[in-house]
Amino acid sequence: MSILTLGIESSCDETAASVVADGRVILSDVIASQADFHSQYGGVVPEIASRMHVESIIPCISRALNDAGVSLRDITAICVTKGPGLVGALLVGVSAAKGLSEVTGLPLIGVGHIESHIAANYLSFPELKPPFVGLIVSGGHTEIVFVDDYNRFKILGKTRDDAAGEAIDKLARVIGLGYPGGPKMDLIGQSGDASKYTFPKTIFKDSLDFSFSGIKTHALNMINQLRMNGQDIDLADFAASYQSSISDVLIENSINACLSITCYNLCMAGGVSANTFLRRKISKRAQEENINIYFPPVRLCTDNASMVASAGYYSYLNGVRDDLSMNAYPSYSF
Ligand code: KG4
Ligand code: ZN
Repeated sequence: MSILTLGIESSCDETAASVVADGRVILSDVIASQADFHSQYGGVVPEIASRMHVESIIPCISRALNDAGVSLRDITAICVTKGPGLVGALLVGVSAAKGLSEVTGLPLIGVGHIESHIAANYLSFPELKPPFVGLIVSGGHTEIVFVDDYNRFKILGKTRDDAAGEAIDKLARVIGLGYPGGPKMDLIGQSGDASKYTFPKTIFKDSLDFSFSGIKTHALNMINQLRMNGQDIDLADFAASYQSSISDVLIENSINACLSITCYNLCMAGGVSANTFLRRKISKRAQEENINIYFPPVRLCTDNASMVASAGYYSYLNGVRDDLSMNAYPSYSF
């Protein structure tokens, strides 16, 4: 008999629910994205996000159960993102999960958002097992983590300021691509020359930490300067050069992380791991170093509930149980 976990995700601007079998097989995956709505404001408006989650959460859960052809009676545990994220948004998922757990008596399991992103790899690669190094790059996070076991994580490096996704989204907005800028910047850069513009790349001595505020400020100044001089910026070349430089830093540190602990499996996760420049360059570099590189399909890189159900499955096996005292934790870390 399979163990079925129900995953619920509402940490940012996607309301999502999924049913996953044995942590590995997606039976349903429902996402109600608010991105189009927030795009008119140039970014996520937290209060509006919370209200939209309230409207979507129950329909998403019902649909996920329906699509999987199961009822709550077939579910073994209810897994929900408890943080990090927007507090009001997180609270909607957490409250729904607590309510369902209370009325059904099913175990409640709070899951960290970063652990969930990492678990997208278990859904994508059935044979994959820890240990491996994880590079988690999203709108809010940039971290290199050693995944020693399904429930054991050690942060090897993290950003000291902006996340990589934040640095991409900010510049995408400035060059008029709107929100969310990452996928659009990716697309527009495809026809560009990545060697046209040069950007500073911050690599710390004796640390695998990141800093993206320097490259972001440099790019902003470059655009302002060109505009003041009445010069046109070549958007495709700019997008290609900028993403390529950010990718180089992500790659350098994650390859160094693998080599420093002699771990030859590297898994990428989070929205920015959908980036074409990053995928292409890291694949090449990993091959040169005999490192196996894994990245989930694009749909599983960005926020979804299947990854929550998968991570929650491993917490369930590990004996994790939460109760009604569980809260939303906006700054949660491992
Ligand atoms: O993981 P995610 O859905 O949400 C967070 O946990 O933050 O990641 C969203 C981020 C945004 O910054 C978005 O612009 C970026 O991932 N993103 C991309 C691409 N697709 C999504 N960035 C670069 N290239 C992409 N193809
Ligand atoms: Zn995320």
